[in-house]
Amino acid sequence: MKNDFHFSYETYSHWKDLPIEDQVLVDKAYEAVELAYAPYSQFQVGASVRLDNDAIVTGNNQENAAYPSGLCAERVALFYIGANYPKQSIKTICIVAKGDLLSLSNLLSPCGACRQVMLESENRQDTKIKIIMVNQDHRTMVIPSVLDLLPFGFGYNE
Ligand code: THU
Repeated sequence: MKNDFHFSYETYSHWKDLPIEDQVLVDKAYEAVELAYAPYSQFQVGASVRLDNDAIVTGNNQENAAYPSGLCAERVALFYIGANYPKQSIKTICIVAKGDLLSLSNLLSPCGACRQVMLESENRQDTKIKIIMVNQDHRTMVIPSVLDLLPFGFGYNE
């Protein structure tokens, strides 16, 4: 039997073309990026998350001299939510970045480990989590579900 995995996504030439609710979320991610602790990579990442009650939680990457001990912005935000708002569903997560590690037009998409953690968050609730990825040139991609970014992730349930 042949099967297909398929998903649709939206692109915008600038995040300011997003609906206002999402623009607010992007703004918060840009505030968070300024507080990142990334002295080793010099690449700052900001994540903002809108919860079901419309509260917004932010995170940023936190690096460490023992490199693997650091944590990505997305997981800082999601684990904070797990620790403090375990019963709140997540509506949307937004990611922005600042630095030379990627070129301006490079897609800023979450790393594999963050996708796995995002998938667990999605599986803990009965709604999908929307992902907004803003490149450094402001081009923006909106993906409707974490499952789209990590087909067959660990714990996948058909
Ligand atoms: N980083 C994130 O915060 N999120 C990602 O999705 C990918 C990478 C961080 C980790 C590290 O502090 C820096 O970016 C360079 O890899």
